[in-house]
Amino acid sequence: MKLTELDSELEKNQLAGFWKTRVPLHASEAPYLWKWEELLDGLMKASETIGIEQAERRAIQLVSPHLPIKSPSHTLQFSFSIVNPGEVARAHRHNMAAIRFVVQGKGAYTAVDGEKFPMAEGDLILTPNWTWHDHHNESEDPIIWLDGLDGPLIRSLNVLFFEEYEKPEQPVTRETGESLSRLGFARAPKKDETHLRGVPFRYAWQDTYKALKTMSDSERDPYDGTLLRYINPATGGFTYPTMSCEIQLFKAREKTRIHRHTSTALYHVFKGRGRTAVGEGHLEWKKGDSFVVPLWQPHSHENLSDEEALLFSINDRPVMEALQLYREEAGN
Ligand SMILES: [Fe+2]
Ligand SMILES: [Fe+2]
Repeated sequence: MKLTELDSELEKNQLAGFWKTRVPLHASEAPYLWKWEELLDGLMKASETIGIEQAERRAIQLVSPHLPIKSPSHTLQFSFSIVNPGEVARAHRHNMAAIRFVVQGKGAYTAVDGEKFPMAEGDLILTPNWTWHDHHNESEDPIIWLDGLDGPLIRSLNVLFFEEYEKPEQPVTRETGESLSRLGFARAPKKDETHLRGVPFRYAWQDTYKALKTMSDSERDPYDGTLLRYINPATGGFTYPTMSCEIQLFKAREKTRIHRHTSTALYHVFKGRGRTAVGEGHLEWKKGDSFVVPLWQPHSHENLSDEEALLFSINDRPVMEALQLYREEAGN
C-alpha cells in the first residue's frame, strides 16, 4: 500500500497518522498598546449612546490585532466600564473570576455576595468566580474602572457559565467592611474551602500606596521595580487560582533588567510615563494606556520621567505554576 493511500484511508475514518503532524511549538505573540485617548473617547460616546439597561455591562474590550479571538491575550482580558450617576449595572454571576480597578471617579460601589464595596480611584475590588455582583454609581459624576477577567482561559476550556439574578439588585445582607473584619489580621482559625476561589474583597488605594512607599530599595526587584501582589487574604496565595493582580512602582528614571517568563501579563498605567521594551521593539506608555506583554517575550521597563510611575497588572502566573509550566529566564 502506498503511504498516500493509507493517509486518505485514515482520513476517511477520522484518523491521522502521526507522521503527518508536527508538534505545534510555542508561537511567539506580538505585544500591543492601547492608548487612553481613544478608549476614553469610545467610553464617553458609549455612555451617551447605550443605556445601561440595554447592555449587560457598558464596557469596551481591548482587542489585540495579533490574536484570532477578540481579546488582548489568550488567557486574560481587560475591558473598561463607565457607569453614569444613578445607574445600576444589574446583578449577575459567572464562573469567570473578575476584578475592578478604579481608574477615575468615586462614590460608586459594587455589591458582591451581599456586601457593598465602595469604589474610589485606585481601589481594587474582587468578584471571584460565581459570586453575585452588581454595580452602582451614587455620585454626581461618571465613574470609570478597568475590568480584568480570566474569560479567554475559561472559554478555551469550554466551561463558561453565566446566570442573571432574578432582580436588578441583590439584597445587601452584610455590613460594609465585613469582609475586612472577617479576613483581617485577627480572625477565626477555621479554613473555609470556598476561599480557594478567592474572596470578595476591597484593597483600598490608600493602603496599597502606603505599602508600596514602605518598601525599601533593598526590596526592589531587578526586573519589576517595587512590586506588590494583591494576595488572597484568606490563603496568602495568589489573588485567584487563575489570575494574580499586581501593582508596581518605578522611581524616577528607574530602569529594570530584562527577563522573560511563561506567564502573560496585561498592564494598565495608573500614573506616570515610561517605556517597556518587549522582544525587538518597545511600547511607550503614559497614564491611562494599557498594554500586553505576551509570554516568553523578553521585556524590561523604564520610567522616562522624574516622577514615580505606577503600573497595575494582571497575569496568569497562578495557572502556569499550578500546571508546573511556569518558567523564568534572565535576559542580557
Ligand atoms: Fe460580571
Ligand atoms: Fe516580567
